[in-house]
Amino acid sequence: MEHLGSGKSTLIKLILKEEEPTSGNIIINGKDTTYLKPSRVPYLRRSMGVVFQDFRLLPDKTVYDNVAYAMYIVRATGRHIRRQVPMVLSLVGLSQKAKMYPNELSGGEQQRVALARALVNNPSMLIADEPTRKLRPRNSVGYYDPS
Ligand SMILES: Nc1ncnc2c1ncn2[C@@H]1O[C@H](COP(=O)(O)OP(=O)(O)OP(=O)(O)O)[C@@H](O)[C@H]1O
Ligand SMILES: [Mg+2]
Repeated sequence: MEHLGSGKSTLIKLILKEEEPTSGNIIINGKDTTYLKPSRVPYLRRSMGVVFQDFRLLPDKTVYDNVAYAMYIVRATGRHIRRQVPMVLSLVGLSQKAKMYPNELSGGEQQRVALARALVNNPSMLIADEPTRKLRPRNSVGYYDPS
């Protein structure tokens, strides 16, 4: 879906139950989410790693803390957090920027923080909205991006 305004971001919000469909059903892994209890919605969201189009980083937390916070809210142990966060930051090439704040980073770097955060809890599914729009062509090798 390469066309602007075609509904890509809306689809992701529907999958996460941030929006409700006016008609039709959303079925994930064979389960209809229409009747999912509100108390189960956080579990649905945590099963997926999502890179939002606007990244949704926390502006007053450092790069490290943005990623660590995603583990904190799923009650990971401090020990697990201290091991996992540097690993994913290294994976996205941001080890040197761990102490910086989102507004001190380029758009592509912010997106890589969002990617690190999406990956840090080992989700069974990774959903990325416009994953290559802000990257240098070199960093998006492996994707076919028709836009
Ligand atoms: N909260 C909203 N209320 C009403 N219409 C909306 C809302 N959010 C998005 N839309 C409309 O729904 C359509 C799809 O929007 P969406 O953001 O899902 O597109 P997109 O494919 O992600 O676009 P882009 O490529 O620009 O990111 C657009 O026409 C938009 O104006
Ligand atoms: Mg969009």
